[in-house]
Amino acid sequence: MTEQDFILKSYNSNIKSGSVKWSAPSNIALVKYWGKKENQIPENPSISFTLSNCKTITEVTYTKKEDNALSFDVFFEDKLNEAFKPKIQTFFERIETYMPFLRDYHFKIETSNTFPHSSGIASSASGMSALALCLLSIEEDLGVDYADDYFNKKASFLARLGSGSACRSIEGELVVWGQNKSTESSDLFGIKYDGEVHSNFKNYQDTILLVDKGEKQVSSTVGHKLMFGHPFAKERFAQAHDNIADLKAILASGDFKAFIKIVESEALTLHAMMMTSMPYFILMKPNTLEIINKIWKFREDTNSNICFTLDAGANVHVLYPEMEKDIILQFIKNDLVSHCQNDHFISDSIGKGAQLIKH
Ligand code: DP6
Repeated sequence: MTEQDFILKSYNSNIKSGSVKWSAPSNIALVKYWGKKENQIPENPSISFTLSNCKTITEVTYTKKEDNALSFDVFFEDKLNEAFKPKIQTFFERIETYMPFLRDYHFKIETSNTFPHSSGIASSASGMSALALCLLSIEEDLGVDYADDYFNKKASFLARLGSGSACRSIEGELVVWGQNKSTESSDLFGIKYDGEVHSNFKNYQDTILLVDKGEKQVSSTVGHKLMFGHPFAKERFAQAHDNIADLKAILASGDFKAFIKIVESEALTLHAMMMTSMPYFILMKPNTLEIINKIWKFREDTNSNICFTLDAGANVHVLYPEMEKDIILQFIKNDLVSHCQNDHFISDSIGKGAQLIKH
């Protein structure tokens, strides 16, 4: 498919108003997206687990208007929020070619997260995917009827233009984004992973340790840009392709030890890219390293299949099989939670993707 396939050609311009509501989950990458080209095209393929509990819930109410300007208000947790506007303005400008009705309506966007906003969990993936889904449901209100497959692809395509990783938040349980030889894939949207998945990886757990809830010093968008001219970029992008190929075999065989190697190496490589950018930066905190070392020791001592991954921040995602849940949760509570800000952590697991709440 190409970009052209996502342009809405005609619609019923007599619809006056309506409202739609979606919830969309966050996701955690196993092979990381870090570096992008023009138009939110990733430099390398990535694959993620869709989460279940960490979600954004968004309702969009649309009302027909006369002028031709892009017009919207954002309410976050019932309060008018000016801080979110610029990102959504950019999003609307990027997607209006594909949704020509955007200038015909005023949009009231009401959004909230199931996780605390100040938790340092990126809400852009769940937020942009929930908004993209709402806009696509409005598109359907205007007289088009999409098959599920096309609907999901266009939702993911639009979400990508809001935030790259958001394109992996439409479906579950594993989603691939970015052209590669090992899986069905596209640079334009995320695709539900179609390979075999061993029962070892079913209902995988993700406990998110909130090490630092503050604003990041360097945004992902700036971080991605620093991959231009990065001395190790070429090798890193090639490595992501290799890791996707290897992970495919691992997901099928259920080999935990091999899974852990790839996932932890990906997390540390992501942060190594940050540390070797120019300008260089560090997003991990002392407690991030304390937690990693304790996870390694616990794994060594108990032969557990616990491992960690990191996003572009200091928080640690602790990943583990469901069958080890009791013992690992005990370990987390006893030994790791003291490294979190205000002892704060969130228990999550793999989820099935976004859900329509009202249409
Ligand atoms: C480190 O999707 O937040 O979480 O496309 O600029 O919005 P933009 O960036 P974003 O990047 C997230 C990168 C990551 C790794 C990943 O999720 O794959």
